[in-house]
Amino acid sequence: MKRFGGLVAVNGVNIKVKRNSMTLLIGPNGAGKTTFVNVCTGVLKPDGGRVFFDPFNDEKRRLDITGWPPHRVYKSGFVRTFQIPQPFLALTVLENVLVALGERGENPLAAPLRRFWVKEEEERVRRAFEILGKVGLKDYWDWEAYRLGAGQLKMLEVARALATGAKLIALDEPIGGTDPAYSHEIFRHVRSLTKSMDVTFLVIEHRIDIALPFADYVYVMDRGSVISEGTPSEVANDPNVIKVYIGE
Ligand SMILES: Nc1ncnc2c1ncn2[C@@H]1O[C@H](COP(=O)(O)OP(=O)(O)OP(=O)(O)O)[C@@H](O)[C@H]1O
Ligand SMILES: [Mg+2]
Repeated sequence: MKRFGGLVAVNGVNIKVKRNSMTLLIGPNGAGKTTFVNVCTGVLKPDGGRVFFDPFNDEKRRLDITGWPPHRVYKSGFVRTFQIPQPFLALTVLENVLVALGERGENPLAAPLRRFWVKEEEERVRRAFEILGKVGLKDYWDWEAYRLGAGQLKMLEVARALATGAKLIALDEPIGGTDPAYSHEIFRHVRSLTKSMDVTFLVIEHRIDIALPFADYVYVMDRGSVISEGTPSEVANDPNVIKVYIGE
């Protein structure tokens, strides 16, 4: 639960994000979607309720992250893309991912041993290319980030999140500012990542039409509460959902 003065922005919302899924959270303006994710990722303190995160896929080691500060949530592997430092626009796509890989923390003892260090560096480059391939940016590896379009920058953010070891990535309106053709690309890549890597996405969208077909499971929020949930087709045919979107 989250209150802003007299307004209850998130109220009794019970959302489960299954491992390796793309779970979609949709709803009209002001529904409470962003507030919900902010409460989960520590950007806002909840006024009630609990947040659990299971990065190890082991019920016994499940973390109660309720009220954790943002950097601690981030370190545990639950990343909201804006928490990652913005891409360095003057650096290339590859360099940006290498920097993010470096943030995982190296063994300080390995550094003076140049022979090992070179091996490690090679391994990092290999890993960076692997990630870039999976987000569709391999061909752009030597482009400076400022030359990328809005959608490609979004995928670079995802690549950097993956490089930091993120297990659960929250994307708030990832297609904002991108052209419609590229929005499908973004969701296609996000969806394929849930199959090709051990990663899970919680995607927040305001528009229902573009994201819905790509989701494994959908929650619909309106005025602070979940008003519908299910598969994309269940939600799309739910009269409650239709009413909310027509009312808009
Ligand atoms: N920091 C804040 N202080 C006061 N009220 C807030 C604050 N943040 C959000 N709200 C209010 O809480 C409600 C939910 O807002 P929220 O931004 O979570 O909605 P949303 O579903 O993300 O909408 P959108 O699709 O426009 O992004 C709205 O009524 C909003 O005005
Ligand atoms: Mg929002």
